[in-house]
Amino acid sequence: MTTEDAPAATPAAGSEPKEEPKTFSTEELFVVVVVVLPFCSVQMFPDGVNSVFLKPKEEADRLEEVYGKGQGIFENPEGRDIAMNAEKIKALLAANGLKEGATIVDLGAGTGLFLSSFAHMVGSEGKLYASEISEAFAELLRRKAAQDELVKSVTEIIVSPEDSLSIADGVADVVFICDVYHHLTYPVTVMRHVRRILKPEGKLVMIDFHRDDEKIWRKPKGWAYQHLRADQDTFRSEILSAGFTLVEEPEIDTLTENYIMIFSPNPPDAETSAPEAKSA
Ligand SMILES: C[S@@+](CC[C@H](N)C(=O)[O-])C[C@H]1O[C@@H](n2cnc3c(N)ncnc32)[C@H](O)[C@@H]1O
Repeated sequence: MTTEDAPAATPAAGSEPKEEPKTFSTEELFVVVVVVLPFCSVQMFPDGVNSVFLKPKEEADRLEEVYGKGQGIFENPEGRDIAMNAEKIKALLAANGLKEGATIVDLGAGTGLFLSSFAHMVGSEGKLYASEISEAFAELLRRKAAQDELVKSVTEIIVSPEDSLSIADGVADVVFICDVYHHLTYPVTVMRHVRRILKPEGKLVMIDFHRDDEKIWRKPKGWAYQHLRADQDTFRSEILSAGFTLVEEPEIDTLTENYIMIFSPNPPDAETSAPEAKSA
């Protein structure tokens, strides 16, 4: 861990649903701050926000059963807006630099929902880095890549610690971060790595869930507020603070659960646009 940002684990202040201001007595405040709040954050992610993913490679089959195999949580088009809109998301990436000969980084590639498509889009002259913190997901990605000669030859599977990214400077045309940002334990630190690995004209395409129950169609009510530590405005500010400029917030008409933000990296010597974000 670096000292650049504190681990993110609980919803950030200011992004909860609006409610009427309420005053508390000193005794009530003591109970809320000293007794209730610490207990809530421990309850929410007692072993960290990635504990369900951080498994050894021997657990790859179990993760595939739950998340992969076309019908699991990440891959089932009936159960996930991203999977249902995969073709439109690929078209958006194609319009933002994902083309033959390009280098793309799929940061937090999970089960490899986009692995084969991205590899074929960059083709034999291109390069795909599929990055993970989970040895079990990395094993699934290796297996998936091994099924297709071209995918195998252009794909490099990277396993990095949660506060790092083992990819060289200035190589990426596109970095894709899909439903991963809210899982970043050290978001600003990782975004600084993303800025470092992007080419000057490269793009960061970030997709994440709306922190709004009304827009989340396949999760239990309350999931969005419990699972996502902050909303789009907070995440946008954090990314800007890591040295990015917002390019566009495109919409896909059939994508209701998620928002999309596209950023370009500021030049290395540019000032960061906001003070250090603290996201815990
Ligand atoms: C909800 S899954 C999304 C997987 C995939 N992007 C998709 O859309 O199907 C989040 C993934 O992010 C990975 N992850 C979390 N923090 C990460 C980090 N710092 N670097 C790389 N991957 C990370 C997790 O291991 C997990 O596979």
